[in-house]
Amino acid sequence: MFPSIPLAAAALALLSSTIAADTCNGHAELCSRLYSNVTFIGAHDSYAVGDGLADNQDKNVTAQLNDGIRTLQLQAHNASDGVHLCHTSCSLQDGGLLEDYFKSVVTWVSSNPNDVVTIVLTNPENLAVSTYSSILTSSGIADYMYQPSSSQIALSDWPTLGELIDQKKTVVAFLDYQADFTSEPRLIDEFSNMWEDAYNVVDASFGCSVNRTSGSPSSQMYLINHYLDTSYSLGGTEFWIPNQDQLNVTNSESGDGSIGFHVGNCVSLWGRNPNHILLDFYDAASNSPFNVAASLNGVSAPTNTVTAGSGATASVTSGSTAKVSQSSLNSSAGGEIQLMKGLWIGAGVMFAVLGGVGRVLM
Ligand SMILES: *[C@@H]1O[C@H](CO)[C@@H](O)[C@H](O)[C@H]1NC(C)=O
Ligand SMILES: *[C@@H]1O[C@H](CO)[C@@H](O)[C@H](O)[C@H]1NC(C)=O
Ligand SMILES: *[C@@H]1O[C@H](CO)[C@@H](O)[C@H](O)[C@H]1NC(C)=O
Ligand SMILES: *[C@@H]1O[C@H](CO)[C@@H](O)[C@H](O)[C@H]1NC(C)=O
Ligand SMILES: *[C@@H]1O[C@H](CO)[C@@H](O)[C@H](O)[C@H]1NC(C)=O
Ligand SMILES: *[C@@H]1O[C@H](CO)[C@@H](O)[C@H](O)[C@H]1NC(C)=O
Repeated sequence: MFPSIPLAAAALALLSSTIAADTCNGHAELCSRLYSNVTFIGAHDSYAVGDGLADNQDKNVTAQLNDGIRTLQLQAHNASDGVHLCHTSCSLQDGGLLEDYFKSVVTWVSSNPNDVVTIVLTNPENLAVSTYSSILTSSGIADYMYQPSSSQIALSDWPTLGELIDQKKTVVAFLDYQADFTSEPRLIDEFSNMWEDAYNVVDASFGCSVNRTSGSPSSQMYLINHYLDTSYSLGGTEFWIPNQDQLNVTNSESGDGSIGFHVGNCVSLWGRNPNHILLDFYDAASNSPFNVAASLNGVSAPTNTVTAGSGATASVTSGSTAKVSQSSLNSSAGGEIQLMKGLWIGAGVMFAVLGGVGRVLM
């Protein structure tokens, strides 16, 4: 006779390894896959929606999630009424309160319990983590956030998508600077767990070398910044805006400068696929980004069709006549300058740029 204790232990082990969820991020096969072994398509500056100079997306976060975006990159700035999501400066681009944005995410994840969503929060002003903790609670997103048991999680120690879904902890959030595991373990220190390649890239050859990390790249997940910028110099300050003319190439599946091309650079250097692929105007090339991710994950392509939103992409024209709309710049003190053929900049942006905030339009 077998002793009963090992039997009970075996039964327990079996129980705890059984995943209840039958579909994870759209696919049964992904339920048993570690979070650290899945490729997700992300929206760079997810909140920066519109056709202004500092906007990066056409559709709001709800529409992004409906289309299949699963990584949301955000930039937080302190403002008089709380933390806002702004691009470089709130005088340049203001995507509203972080709390409101999180509430939209909560609405979506609560009605899509079989999808894991990642948040990559950037903290350029080094706001204290306690500032964020209260917003996590007030927005309700805290209830859905995965809380790891250590600040640094080995690649093999991440839960599977099925485990996250079973536990109803479907939001995995990273903070680039000022994370503090002791006081706020739900905001995971990004660079202890994930490296990034370069941002503000203007050369479509991309690369895939490590730009930021505080750990050992070979034992971390990684995120690639797959968006192409054009840089301008204004009053001695350099700044970057999305290269919209190249979007149909940048966001396509294959060919020079495409997502597949960039991923290929990465795989040849690092031997595995990126975990997060951040894009500007991800909707510019229909399903292409999502087809790439499905292929990298070894699952069937999604069946929904991504249509172009009503922002910049829909109105993009080719060549040097490409025009950046002024609609989001009207709050400026009036007046505008023509920086180069077809590119108009409102006075508010000028002041913001000349005021020294233009260096990191990322
Ligand atoms: C997001 O965009 C959709 C249209 O794509 C719209 O129906 C919805 O009201 C928007 N949500 C918010 C919070 O603006
Ligand atoms: C955020 O801005 C408010 C209002 O301007 C200010 O009172 C507060 O000290 C700022 N907080 C931080 C951390 O800078
Ligand atoms: C990281 O990327 C930024 C922006 O492209 C660049 O200025 C910086 O030199 C890079 N740093 C490293 C270590 O590659
Ligand atoms: C991108 O658009 C340009 C201009 O319309 C066109 O010449 C080019 O063939 C397109 N490239 C791809 C990969 O679709
Ligand atoms: C997942 O694991 C497979 C097999 O080792 C590997 O080929 C793939 O690159 C991994 N993907 C990610 C995102 O780690
Ligand atoms: C912006 O200002 C221009 C010029 O005053 C005006 O024609 C346009 O309707 C304004 N757009 C918005 C969105 O307010």
